[in-house]
Amino acid sequence: PRVSLTGIKPTGDPHLGNYIGAIRPALELTAKYDSIYFIADYHALTSIRDREKFAAYTRSVAATWITLGLDPERTVFYKQSDIPEIFELAWILSCVTGKGLMNRAHAYKAARDRNAENGVADLDAGVNMGLFNYPVLMAVDILIMGSDVVPVGQDQVQHVEYAADIAGSFNHLFGADYSLKIPEAIIPTGVNARTMPGTDGRKMSKSYGNTIPLFAPPSRLRKLVRGIVSDSTPVEEPKDPDSSAAFQIFENFATPEAVKEMRVRLEQGGTGWGELKNALFETLDTWLTPLRARYEELIAPGSELDAILAAGGEKARDRARPVLAGARRAIGVDL
Ligand code: TYM
Repeated sequence: PRVSLTGIKPTGDPHLGNYIGAIRPALELTAKYDSIYFIADYHALTSIRDREKFAAYTRSVAATWITLGLDPERTVFYKQSDIPEIFELAWILSCVTGKGLMNRAHAYKAARDRNAENGVADLDAGVNMGLFNYPVLMAVDILIMGSDVVPVGQDQVQHVEYAADIAGSFNHLFGADYSLKIPEAIIPTGVNARTMPGTDGRKMSKSYGNTIPLFAPPSRLRKLVRGIVSDSTPVEEPKDPDSSAAFQIFENFATPEAVKEMRVRLEQGGTGWGELKNALFETLDTWLTPLRARYEELIAPGSELDAILAAGGEKARDRARPVLAGARRAIGVDL
């Protein structure tokens, strides 16, 4: 069967955007694909500097996947840092990757743009080599598992294209009798195609601090939902649902009937943003309430999570070893 692979970086608690962009589609793909999902902990190290938080976010990402239905018997599930083969292949592939390609990567360019906006003369100030090499490491995550498809949100598509480019360049240079499989991204379609907005209306992102974490306690969830930006159209007046971040989130979680009804009521007038937000909170809370206990149990120290990840790490290494061995022979190390 074809392989589906994706990862989440533990730089914060997983949020509604991660769910819609990656977790939900990835779990759906487990029915038809050989699935391989992991925690990209070494990717988080480009920004995380607090070891307690690093450990806690790693647990939180892992617990989230399991709570939402990942079955570790069916899906290979592990921490990136448990697979040393990844880091060896990362060196090999960095030697067939043009620096110019990395210069054009979105995250690196965004860091430079921020410096320019803030009048910092050295545009690379605050950029570590991990951030610069990030796309190579991500390419290896994908290529070392022989991935066919990579379910991700729109913001990660460039990275998956880079993985395909890097595989192509390796195959071109060394692929006479061993080649890396070329992957492709799968992004959500329909109303879900839109990148999920955060509480301030920009893309929901851990780095913007505008996320709604999946397993926030109900009181915090309510507060975050109530705090989503909205314009000041009075309750009586007709509103444009599509301009509303709260409505875009609602569209992804409520039933199609509830979404349609809410749209009509907002467009007619007489329904305020507050009412929409109450409905959004209720929808999320009804879904999450039965899941919270399981999540709490899994994040607790000493839970079964550690054994699940250790076993998954073994399975992942079994898949990674032959790919690394193939690459080593292809370049001439083990000839
Ligand atoms: P990360 O941790 O930033 O995000 C995890 C997944 O969630 C998606 N996502 C969103 N989707 C819709 N709306 C949003 N607002 C939103 N925010 C995040 C992301 O697109 C992603 O699919 N570099 C990756 C982690 C990674 C990876 C990999 C992914 C490392 N190696 C190999 C796939 C394959 C990242 O930082 O994702």
